[in-house]
Amino acid sequence: MKLLGLPLLLVLLAVTPPGCQGIIIPRCQLVRILRQHGLEGFVGERVADWVCLAKHESSYNTGAINRNKDGSSDYGIFQINSKYWCYNGRTPGASHGCRIHCSKLLDNNITDDIKCAKLIAQRARGLTPWVAWRNHCRGKDLRPYVKGC
Ligand SMILES: *[C@@H]1O[C@H](CO)[C@@H](O)[C@H](O)[C@H]1NC(C)=O
Repeated sequence: MKLLGLPLLLVLLAVTPPGCQGIIIPRCQLVRILRQHGLEGFVGERVADWVCLAKHESSYNTGAINRNKDGSSDYGIFQINSKYWCYNGRTPGASHGCRIHCSKLLDNNITDDIKCAKLIAQRARGLTPWVAWRNHCRGKDLRPYVKGC
């Protein structure tokens, strides 16, 4: 039953439209949450970098899912990848470094997303694993992302 149950659950998760879960976190609320979790100065990056990253990866949508060409998918506000970091049961050759089911990265509580993102950033010694950060945030004036918060 255990072996039968898990694939069925994954099928059900896969056919659940992404819009059914997740919320858009308002920018200043995200700033507050990220500060609470010690991201200011973490691996030498600013909270503004993380907000910019979230803006360009998911538009602050905690329920965002996107499929990659290699068959893996990216989950949640930080678009965490199923090839290396979270487990979705259908990504070949996956090593899920954050030891978490990808679907947990789609709910309204981003505590686990932050924990996993910190591990990714720590391993990379920065935010370079995020293409959107490299393309839209790195080296830019990011003050608007924390302005008024
Ligand atoms: C969010 O999840 C964490 C565990 O991942 C838990 O400790 C915390 O209480 C949760 N926050 C809310 C508001 O439910």
